[in-house]
This record gives sequence, structure tokens and C-alpha cells, in this order.
Amino acid sequence: MSDTQIRDLEGQTALVTGATSGIGRAVAVQLAAQGATVLVHGRDVDRGVQVLEEIELGGGHARFVGADISTTEGIQELVDEAGDVDILVNNAGFSWFGPSVDLDPGKFDALFDSNVRAPYLLVSAFAPAMAAKGSGSIISLASMAGLVGLAGGAAYGATKLSLVALTRSWAAEYSPSGVRVNAIAAGPVYTASDPARIKALGETTLLGRAAVPEEIANVIGFVASPRASYVTGAVIAVDGGRTAV
Ligand SMILES: NC(=O)c1ccc[n+]([C@@H]2O[C@H](COP(=O)([O-])OP(=O)(O)OC[C@H]3O[C@@H](n4cnc5c(N)ncnc54)[C@H](OP(=O)(O)O)[C@@H]3O)[C@@H](O)[C@H]2O)c1
Repeated sequence: MSDTQIRDLEGQTALVTGATSGIGRAVAVQLAAQGATVLVHGRDVDRGVQVLEEIELGGGHARFVGADISTTEGIQELVDEAGDVDILVNNAGFSWFGPSVDLDPGKFDALFDSNVRAPYLLVSAFAPAMAAKGSGSIISLASMAGLVGLAGGAAYGATKLSLVALTRSWAAEYSPSGVRVNAIAAGPVYTASDPARIKALGETTLLGRAAVPEEIANVIGFVASPRASYVTGAVIAVDGGRTAV
């Protein structure tokens, strides 16, 4: 944990979906460093335990919640296990790039199940309690792939732009009750994805490089916190300037 870390999430519980890897892992570590108790969600228990150890080494508090959110049953398990949360980060998801004709219908449905349907059902499960309390923060991982045309990314981009539409409508629905709802449209980030594709995409940004997960997590740490108290319904580009020009 950094000495300069602002501990502005003390007493709050944050559920980070897909926190066993990549951006979600960095977000879990960041929110814990800000004082939140973090529910580290994913499917891979071993990687989940590694994230818990990293958080605990930094003096933070976390527990692992395993569930496959591509199914209704898995989502219900996650909701039941999580209990009340103050912060929900809809991060779990996956991408598929390739010729549109090569994407079989089952994989198309799987993309929408994990990237769109799961966040929808999770917000439906958690936002009403946040609204009843009069506070909460929901942050979803959108992507520049939903904002610019990328050859081979039609279906994935559609899932990510769907999250933008959901975010704006959720803000309209829940922000009058004090719940802030935002999306982060991330540019290319070095995670489990194909590093050559991420590097090539990074070279198309104004900064000329892809991001590391912590560069996304820092922004999410800010948006989750009271420092962003007037930010809702926003789609925040963290993409090295890729969508600015
Ligand atoms: N990397 C990028 O360039 C980039 C750019 C823009 C947006 N994003 C978005 O950022 C998010 C994270 O991406 P990433 O690159 O960090 O991915 P990643 O390293 O592949 O990690 C994905 C995480 O999601 C979890 N997950 C996926 N499907 C799941 C399911 N059905 N049930 C439960 N957990 C599931 C994985 O859990 P297990 O491994 O434990 O199964 C893992 O923790 C995604 O929504 C992605 O679309 C990524």
C-alpha cells in the first residue's frame, strides 16, 4: 500500500467481479488500499487466494467469492454470498476478436451473457438496497472497442456499448436516490489478452502505448470514492486518448 494512499473507503464493502486477474485484480487491490473490504469474485480459486494474500500483505481486508456469472444460478450464488455491498464494480467479462462470420451463435450468446446480462442482473440485485440506503457506487468496465469500429470486434464492441446504455439508464433510475452509476471506457490494457494485439492497439493511441491495469484501477478508485461525489451517468475514457481524435 502506498504511504500517500487516501483511505476514503473505510467501512465500505466493494464487490469486484472478475477480480482474480487483470484489471479486476488491480481494482480489488486499489479499493482495499483505500480501506474498503473487498469481495474478490471469480472462478479460479487459486488466483483468487493470491489476490487475497496480496491485499492482506498490504494491510487490507478481503474475501473470495467464487461463482460463474454466465448462468442465472451462478449470479444468484454470488448475490447470496456477497450480502450488502456499497460499491459494485462490474468488471468480469471476456473479449472475442475475429472475422464476424467465425463467431458461432453460442459464443455470441456467451459474450452477451457474461458482459451484459450478468451486470444487468447484478445491478438489479444490488442497486435497490443502495437506493434504499441513499448511497452507493456502481462502476462498469466498458471499452474503447464499443466506441470505435475495430475489425473483428463487432460482437464484443456491442457488449461494451450496451454497458454504456445501461449505465446511463441506471443513472437516471438510481441517482435520484443517491447511487452514482458510471462506466470506464478503457483502452488496450496488458492483461490475459493476446499481448501482440494489445501492443498494436496501444500504438494507435495518442500516448502510443497500452496501459497497465493499475492505470485503470486508479481511476476506478477515484470514481468509487466520495472525491467523485458529483460524477454520475458518466462514461470516462481511460484510453490514452484513442477516442479523442
Ligand atoms: N484488457 C483490455 O484491453 C480491456 C480493455 C477494455 C475493457 N476491458 C474489460 O475489462 C474487463 C476485465 O478485462 P481483463 O482484460 O482484465 O480480463 P482478464 O484478465 O481475462 O480477467 C477476466 C476476469 O473476469 C472473470 N470472469 C470472466 N468470465 C467470468 C464468468 N463467466 N464468471 C466469473 N468470472 C468470470 C475471470 O475470472 P476467472 O479467471 O477466475 O475465471 C477474470 O477474473 C472486461 O470486462 C473487459 O471487457 C479490458
